[in-house]
Amino acid sequence: MQNLIDSLAGDLEAAQAVKSSHWKYHAEKGDGFGVLKQSGGMAGAWHWAAQRGLYFGQRDIFSTEEYNQMRDWCQAQGRVLNQNSLLHVFAIRFLHQRLSPVPITCVVGDGQANFAGLWLRMSLPTQKLISINLPEVLIADVSPLVRSGVVSAEQMAVAKTRDELDAALRNDAIQLVMVSANRAEIVKDAGIGLFVNIASFQEMTQQIVDQYFEIVKSNRAWLYCCNREEKTLYGGERIEFKNYAWGDGAQDVFEECPWYTSYYSSRPPFLAKFDGKTLHALVKYA
Ligand SMILES: C[S@@+](CC[C@H](N)C(=O)[O-])C[C@H]1O[C@@H](n2cnc3c(N)ncnc32)[C@H](O)[C@@H]1O
Repeated sequence: MQNLIDSLAGDLEAAQAVKSSHWKYHAEKGDGFGVLKQSGGMAGAWHWAAQRGLYFGQRDIFSTEEYNQMRDWCQAQGRVLNQNSLLHVFAIRFLHQRLSPVPITCVVGDGQANFAGLWLRMSLPTQKLISINLPEVLIADVSPLVRSGVVSAEQMAVAKTRDELDAALRNDAIQLVMVSANRAEIVKDAGIGLFVNIASFQEMTQQIVDQYFEIVKSNRAWLYCCNREEKTLYGGERIEFKNYAWGDGAQDVFEECPWYTSYYSSRPPFLAKFDGKTLHALVKYA
């Protein structure tokens, strides 16, 4: 496991170049990556009840295999299944319902391995996942994924070059390939069938988002994108969903995301709308 961490740590400096003002600010403060609550006490029961209230109209989600898998995985980590975990249950359920399985999926900007953990639990051993993120976040993902039994350290690889990526994708033993964001270009035209981006293009610069769209198009892949309609970052950059480089992708879905509308909290007003609309789209490039 240490060799993966050491390899990713080698990219910490270079990855500064692909951080927006949002991530530079939060990296300096040492926050912005969300807080994981350990289970135990009343925390689990409180989230359980709040979610059933907030998603009463979409309560079928609680009887899906995706939900059961997320619940069991959170239990294995001793952590609470919070709203962010549940949002990933909705997204993965949506993808399972809409798409046939593809051999290689790539998640860009995952957080707390919420996407990677559930996706891998449900797709091993027949599908591989590539995770592109800031190296500090990939480093933080390694141990929870291994300790909770999703993948072993031997089933993970770090790819820094196209040759290393190809070798990892050819190797039947490797299930998860991690790529530092400053090396994202190596996944161009790499046979990836599906890209997923949830709540993170909205915090990148337009230039970086454009670069990811080029990568998706070069793979002639599906893209599932779920992000704020618009957001202004600390440095004044304004990121708008409608201005992403959609190009001529065939749109299967393009609408307000039905589960990303409101949140619950233990303080008044207890239930509230998120700060701005979140849209989601499923698009196929040919
Ligand atoms: C708000 S978090 C969202 C995390 C997760 N997708 C979720 O929905 O909880 C944004 C993520 O984008 C990642 N990120 C920031 N800049 C990036 C870049 N240039 N390339 C890839 N990921 C990046 C951050 O490290 C973080 O994991």
